[in-house]
Amino acid sequence: MKCLDYEVKYPKKDCQLDQDEEWITLVAEGHTEKIRLHDYEKLYSVPGLYEEVIYEHLQCDSPRVVCSMLKEELEDTRDQEADLRVLDFGAGNGIVGECLDEMIGCDTIVGVDIVEEAQEATVRDRPGIYDDYYVMDLSQLNDHKEKQLAKWDFNALVTVAALGYDHIPTRAFLNAYNLLDDGAWVAFNIKDRFLSEEDDSGYEEILSTMMGDSLTVLREKCYCHRLSLSGEALDYYAIVGRKNKDATVS
Ligand SMILES: C[S@@+](CC[C@H](N)C(=O)[O-])C[C@H]1O[C@@H](n2cnc3c(N)ncnc32)[C@H](O)[C@@H]1O
Repeated sequence: MKCLDYEVKYPKKDCQLDQDEEWITLVAEGHTEKIRLHDYEKLYSVPGLYEEVIYEHLQCDSPRVVCSMLKEELEDTRDQEADLRVLDFGAGNGIVGECLDEMIGCDTIVGVDIVEEAQEATVRDRPGIYDDYYVMDLSQLNDHKEKQLAKWDFNALVTVAALGYDHIPTRAFLNAYNLLDDGAWVAFNIKDRFLSEEDDSGYEEILSTMMGDSLTVLREKCYCHRLSLSGEALDYYAIVGRKNKDATVS
């Protein structure tokens, strides 16, 4: 990956910001710019910046955790010969696709993200990892989008660090879920808060309805997704399961 010459400055450790308020300062070519960590258009536009801030400085471990839990479950229960055709939803700049490729070696990996810069960064920094990559909003599924995705006949959905906050809304997650074959593998993570009574994103409601009904949970673990800018552990749940049937949550 070709990295530009830049410097990242971090706020003082005593800053107490929620994840969607966190920011860094980028100093490049004489310009200084404040960038929110959830401003993916900006982060992905600078080669190496997302990796440096989220993965090196803040020690994000989620792609490895989610992919290794899926791998373990596949090894325990799967017909080893079966093809894995994965929809990586909220694929970003391709780190999860790369992890799936290295750890599991899937037959097909297709990325979907809502941000054009995510696709551009994937092509720029991780060419060849995805069989295809779509920039689309799955909260409103029309015939055209459904046809484009259905042709891949997905039997696995992977979503890392993309549920909750102002990321993938519940309707889009359900639409992606319902594109899968019955029996498909489902692997995702979500911040602990969105599975608690405090949740106002709708995820607690839909996931508690799905679990044990349309989704059988096989593995679940609470772990540190990454550090906050003030150095605290941000705890997430990683969940791996199998789809029993379409989710019909209203
Ligand atoms: C924290 S990043 C995670 C990227 C990647 N999965 C990873 O783990 O490195 C969240 C991603 O979700 C994407 N996203 C947010 N809302 C979305 C939506 N409605 N549909 C698809 N992707 C979305 C963002 O553009 C961003 O790339």
